[in-house]
Amino acid sequence: MFTTRFSFAHQEVDDILPQTASVVVFNAQSADQITALRPRHVTAVQGFAPVVHALTAAGIRVVQDVNEDFDAAIVLLPKSKSLARDMTAKAAACVKGGVVLVDGQKSDGIDSVLKDLKRVVSLGPILSKAHGKISWFDADADLSAWRSAPIDLGDGFQTVAGVFSADGVDPASALLAKHVAVVARGVGADLGSGWGYLTRNILAVADVKTLFAIEADFDAHMIAQKNCVDARVQFCWDDVAKWAPPKPLDFVVSNPPFHTFGQADPKIGIGFIQTAARILGPSGQFLMVANRHLPYEETLEQCFQMVSELDGTPKFKVFLAARPRKSKR
Ligand SMILES: C[S@@+](CC[C@H](N)C(=O)[O-])C[C@H]1O[C@@H](n2cnc3c(N)ncnc32)[C@H](O)[C@@H]1O
Repeated sequence: MFTTRFSFAHQEVDDILPQTASVVVFNAQSADQITALRPRHVTAVQGFAPVVHALTAAGIRVVQDVNEDFDAAIVLLPKSKSLARDMTAKAAACVKGGVVLVDGQKSDGIDSVLKDLKRVVSLGPILSKAHGKISWFDADADLSAWRSAPIDLGDGFQTVAGVFSADGVDPASALLAKHVAVVARGVGADLGSGWGYLTRNILAVADVKTLFAIEADFDAHMIAQKNCVDARVQFCWDDVAKWAPPKPLDFVVSNPPFHTFGQADPKIGIGFIQTAARILGPSGQFLMVANRHLPYEETLEQCFQMVSELDGTPKFKVFLAARPRKSKR
C-alpha cells in the first residue's frame, strides 16, 4: 500500500526523494512494504524483535533509536495516535533540509494525523490511493510538542506510547496476577512481559529464584526494567518463538498476545503455548490467561498432559497446564 502510494507520489511530484538520498523509515513492518524505496540507502527504525530479525535478514539496516541525520524520513503510520505523533516528531528532528513523508491507511487514522499536521506545518498535497493517504512537509518544522512523555500509572509503574495496554493494567493480566503464586517457584519465565505488570507480580512471590522476562517490543522491554527493579529478573528483548532458557524451566506465566500491529491472529497465542511446552522441564507448570473466545484448548491438550481451567470470568479464562508432552517440545 505504501509502495503504491509512494510510486504515485513520485509520478506526481518530480524527484520527491532523490535516488541518492539517505532515508530513515519509521515503522516498516516488512522488507516488501518498502521495496519502492530501492535503490536508496534505507535505515529502518523498528523495535519489534520478529520484524527486526526479518528486516535485518533482508539486508536492511535497523535501529531502535535515531542518533544521526538523514536526507529524508518516512513515517508509516502506526495505529496508536500518540505513537504516530511521537514518530513524526522524531522524523522531523533527524532530517536536515529534506522532507518528511507521512503515509497511512484510513483505518489507521491517517486523516486525523494529517489534519493535526496541517495546523502546525506547511503540508504538501495529500494524495489518496489504495485506501490510504500520503503527504509530506519540510523537516525544518519543530514538532517537539508532539513527542510523547512516559505515562505514570501509579504504584511506580510507567509506560510509553504504543506499548501494549499503555494506559493502564490489562484486566486479563490483573486476573492472572491473582494466581501466579500457584506456579511461581524456582526458575521461570514471563512470556510477552510487556511493561512489566505481571513480571512484578511474579517477583512478589518469594520462592522465585530467577525470572526471565521475554518481550519483543523494545520500548516495553526498556520501560519494564524501570518498573521491575529486582536482582532476580533477567530482561530479554527477543521473539518468544526463538528464545531458549539456559536450562529447562520450573514455570512459565503468560498473557499471550493475539494481535500484531493491530491484526488479530490467534496463531500467535498458539505459538506461545508451544514455546511454553518447549522450554519447561518435565514437571514444569504453565499458567496463562486468554480472552474466552480464543481457541487455545486443543493446543494446550496437545502440548501438556494436564490442563485445567483454574479461574474464569465471562470475558477471560485462566488455564493451568502441567507436564509438557515430550513430542511437542
Ligand atoms: C497481552 S500482552 C501482555 C503484556 C504483559 N505481560 C502485561 O500483562 O501487561 C502480550 C505481550 O507480548 C508481546 N509480544 C508479542 N509478540 C511477541 C513475540 N513474538 N515475542 C515476545 N513478545 C511478544 C507484546 O509486545 C505484548 O507486550
